[in-house]
Amino acid sequence: MKSLEDLVVFAKVNGFIFPGSEIYGGLANTFDYGPLGALLKNNIKKSWIQKFVSETSSNILLDSSILLNSEVWRSSGHVGGFSDPLTECKSCHERFRADHLVAKFDSSLNTDKFSLSEMDEFIIKNHIKCPSCGKENFAPIKKFNMMFQTYQGAVIESANQIYLRPETAQGIFINFKNIQRSLRKKIPFGVGQVGKAFRNEITPGNFIFRTREFEQMELEFFCKPGTELEWFDYHKNICRKFLLDLGIKEENLIFRDHEKESLAFYSNATCDIEFRFPWGFDELWGIASRTDYDLGVHQKGSGENLMYLDPDTNEKYLPYVIEPSLGVERLLLALLFSAYDTEILDNNEERTVLHLHPALSPYKVAVLPLIKKEHSEKALEIYNSLIKHFSVTYDSSANIGKRYRRQDAIGTYFSVTVDNDTLTNDTVTVRYRDSMKQVVVSLKDLNSFILNAISF
Ligand code: GAP
Repeated sequence: MKSLEDLVVFAKVNGFIFPGSEIYGGLANTFDYGPLGALLKNNIKKSWIQKFVSETSSNILLDSSILLNSEVWRSSGHVGGFSDPLTECKSCHERFRADHLVAKFDSSLNTDKFSLSEMDEFIIKNHIKCPSCGKENFAPIKKFNMMFQTYQGAVIESANQIYLRPETAQGIFINFKNIQRSLRKKIPFGVGQVGKAFRNEITPGNFIFRTREFEQMELEFFCKPGTELEWFDYHKNICRKFLLDLGIKEENLIFRDHEKESLAFYSNATCDIEFRFPWGFDELWGIASRTDYDLGVHQKGSGENLMYLDPDTNEKYLPYVIEPSLGVERLLLALLFSAYDTEILDNNEERTVLHLHPALSPYKVAVLPLIKKEHSEKALEIYNSLIKHFSVTYDSSANIGKRYRRQDAIGTYFSVTVDNDTLTNDTVTVRYRDSMKQVVVSLKDLNSFILNAISF
């Protein structure tokens, strides 16, 4: 696996990910997705929607607002409790997550169980030093709420204060009744949502791994109480299959089931799927069995009856929830680390290749006229017919070997070369990115040949 530094350079040079606001000196830990990053991100979201919504008959999609009534966040517990323990080094004024300092010192400890004063004591007793300046001079730990606040309307006063959502999930819970009734959904069913979330993280970092603005792909799966642990296992399995099918290797994944003692008070099972990033295994995807906590707090907070009435048995209950929650950028990062490689070819040349699943490749196909003057007209005709079906790029500059290398580096799955045979026989040479093998395909079959190969 490549280093983080290599990947950052690769992503910038090849138009995947740029530092945010760069020409103004940047804005720390923000990133802009370049033309290829934007295509890759869209393909990731499309694949998730395909597997977790479109191909699962019980599941449906939602697109709820980023801005919600502040009472939603009071009921959900985010106003009171969505905080991380913050400490500041009084010598260099750098700020840190206190739980990260403790965990770095002893990774076997469960920091969720520490009170703020216990964490303070632990840091002092174990002489934990500031990672920036090396001094032992930390201020007392405080709780820091991670929600971004803003104001709605022209007057800045507390009555108008609202929050940018720190997760997409609450938009699903507060729409449970609308969704269930309007679509006459029967339990069990799931509601998926893809969208932006914002968290004022104390220590963002590791490139796009932890940022303050990110996207989530969340599924809230509503089921009958008593069946939740079966559904929890079911979702663990489909999440595993999704990652493996996209090309992530089994040995780079750990399914870390939380011990009973470390479960959140509302959860009766939680599993973190961790990926082997260059800095070690770290959370990629969280799967939680959340009981009826969320619907319960919103029923209480809103005064609305959110009970489900089973039309077959007449039973009334508050559904339980299984929640697989995944960050788009975290998955994108894991996929880039899994795909990015350099290989030495038989002729001792080095090639950079991005072995992405073809469904994720920014371009499925590159159309390349062998000789610009002679083959461009036909090549453009082919390009214009293919772009109606999938993303295609066109390149007529430089020699064919260089053009192949460029396409390999950005993950283009097929290169289609247009030459004299195309003009005389209506055939093209199709080159596979990974094996570099070439096959001759007739023009009339080209579209279906490509579609078959890139499906997910
Ligand atoms: N609704 C549950 C929830 O939001 P979470 O564990 O806080 O749970 C779920 O977040 C997923 O969202 C994480 O596993 C990660 O993939 C992604 N995520 C969370 N915070 C993030 C951040 N600051 N930057 C990028 N991705 C983040």
